[in-house]
Amino acid sequence: MVSLATDATLGLTNLDDEITVDELELEGELPPWLAGSLLRTGPARWDLGKQTVNHWFDGLAMLHRFTIDGGSVSYANRFLRTKAFAGAKDGRVGYREFATDPCRSAFQRVASLFDPGFTDNANVNVARIMGKWVALTETPMAVTFDPETLETLGVTKIPATTGGLAHPHGDNGKALSMGVHMTGRPAYRLIEDDRVVGKLPVRRPAYVHSFAMTERFAVLIEHPYTVNPITIPLSNKPFIEHFEWHPEKGTRFVVFDRRSGRHVADWHGPAFFVFHTANAYEEGDDIVIDLCAYDDPGIVQALGLQRLRAGEPIPWARLERFRLRAGGAVERTRLSDEPLELPRIDYGRVNGRPHRYVWGAGAHSDFVDTIVKVDVTTGETTTWRDGYPGEPVFVGRPGREEEDDGVLLTVVLEPERAASSMVVLDAATLTELARARVPHHIPFGFHGQFSRA
Ligand SMILES: [Fe+2]
Repeated sequence: MVSLATDATLGLTNLDDEITVDELELEGELPPWLAGSLLRTGPARWDLGKQTVNHWFDGLAMLHRFTIDGGSVSYANRFLRTKAFAGAKDGRVGYREFATDPCRSAFQRVASLFDPGFTDNANVNVARIMGKWVALTETPMAVTFDPETLETLGVTKIPATTGGLAHPHGDNGKALSMGVHMTGRPAYRLIEDDRVVGKLPVRRPAYVHSFAMTERFAVLIEHPYTVNPITIPLSNKPFIEHFEWHPEKGTRFVVFDRRSGRHVADWHGPAFFVFHTANAYEEGDDIVIDLCAYDDPGIVQALGLQRLRAGEPIPWARLERFRLRAGGAVERTRLSDEPLELPRIDYGRVNGRPHRYVWGAGAHSDFVDTIVKVDVTTGETTTWRDGYPGEPVFVGRPGREEEDDGVLLTVVLEPERAASSMVVLDAATLTELARARVPHHIPFGFHGQFSRA
């Protein structure tokens, strides 16, 4: 258990400034081969005026861009101009967020059965889907943006899904995603680009944030944190508070064949809670899935904004391997004792195939304060600590032979400067290579992607 110190609360403080800096102050040296943009999204405004949202996940979305070009780094940040952003202009949330609800009349609640009015506050992840850069959250609303200016270009409702889209996979130029359809007849849906290619009806869907993909299969991890969806639109309780923990039911691994879209198998294992899978692959007739496992969904409440700002303790995940045996057994192994979340791999090369390294963010003192590298073949774990870093995005050196030959890009809050930097680490050794200083703090965010020049 860790807790948030006052130093780290700056990362949960509104950032109102939108700036463009052509050349950030740079310490150290960037690798000459490194060129492109780190694009990130995250919450940046929680205190709306008349209302403060309930959860870290519910702040208004802001994009950040770090462009590395010719040995220097430029930076820009912009709020997403969404309906949720406009709706919060009067000082309150305008849409139903993860853990914060607008006040709605009984009539509005019934009307939402027919038109749920999903939030487009896309503060979870960015991805390139069907040739466009989009910011994503856990609703069907994808927000397209210009990767250079960060201007919001539009909001597209992707009708195929009603959730789970914040972590699509990419393969052969196609985006593969999993949706949790909660209205009408609830179902898990496998989605390729904007097309439903498979579905499985489910009475009580789980809260699903990401899914695993191998070369042949898509695996939805149905941990026992589930909901009766009909209760959601009719109440004024926030979305996530409808979910209930039933550990006695264990976890079901729901396997779809990617080619046919068919639900082909289920495995049943012990109860645990998961936000993020790291990678998955087939080995003989087994399916191997590495993921960040929690004992239970206590993390969901622990990341409540008021609790974080008050410094209450946070449970942390560990990197674990689940081997789904051909005979039906599920074997669980801890890969490292180091806390690890926000996992990243050499995605372009090893996604869906056996991998050796997982990088992530961990915590030792009061919040996310560590970058972690785990060699999953040996359990050897390496760490780097300085300030409060976020998700480490791996960028491989072109032409590399070793899986860890590259860099990690991570945004670090520096409490002594009351501002943030983008830090470049050697992905093999976790030694610091360079640090580009931003003139303001960057609120703690979630995910980003690197767009090569
Ligand atoms: Fe995520």
